[in-house]
Amino acid sequence: MDVLTAIQSRRSIRLYSAKPIEEDKLNLVLEAARRAPSANNRQSWKFIVVKDEAIRTKLAEAAGGQLFIAHAPVILVACGTEPESIMTCGQYRYTVDLSVATAFMLLEAREQGLGTCWLGRFDEKGVKDILGIPEQVRVVAITPLGYPAETPDERPRKKLEDIVCFDRYQ
Ligand SMILES: Cc1cc2nc3c(=O)[nH]c(=O)nc-3n(C[C@H](O)[C@H](O)[C@H](O)COP(=O)(O)O)c2cc1C
Repeated sequence: MDVLTAIQSRRSIRLYSAKPIEEDKLNLVLEAARRAPSANNRQSWKFIVVKDEAIRTKLAEAAGGQLFIAHAPVILVACGTEPESIMTCGQYRYTVDLSVATAFMLLEAREQGLGTCWLGRFDEKGVKDILGIPEQVRVVAITPLGYPAETPDERPRKKLEDIVCFDRYQ
């Protein structure tokens, strides 16, 4: 599958099969995060792979009761380990770095026939307590990972001409 095909065919999956994920597939998804670019190549990140069912259920509760995530055999939690650093452009480095790495994981998961769903709705403190994440570390994104048990339709996207302009902002 080429990259654009993976991008075009990826969907947020909210219904998962209980089928376990092969370790080599899981490792390829994590490898995609490891290979992601980061500001100054600092790679100030940690990816927690949650397989334990009881912990998955607790995470689902901390994610505003989005219980579907507990049905996936794995939940990935993407953490920024140096959240204080701000780039010259004014953006926090860790939010950008972790978003890139998470996006790479979503696409590699698609390549492997696995489903994901980026979660931004979660109680960070609750998640940190459940997983023993140190106070100074920030949780940027969470996604379930597993074989899809649904094939959602494509969600609408704005037209290219509505979001792209040339030479100056219009
Ligand atoms: C930053 C971010 C946060 C999101 N948070 C949630 C979430 O908490 N729960 C959820 O079910 N989907 C969440 N989504 C998934 C979006 O709803 C989804 O990507 C969007 O509707 C487009 O659908 P698609 O991913 O199938 O193309 C999130 C996506 C992003 C990028």
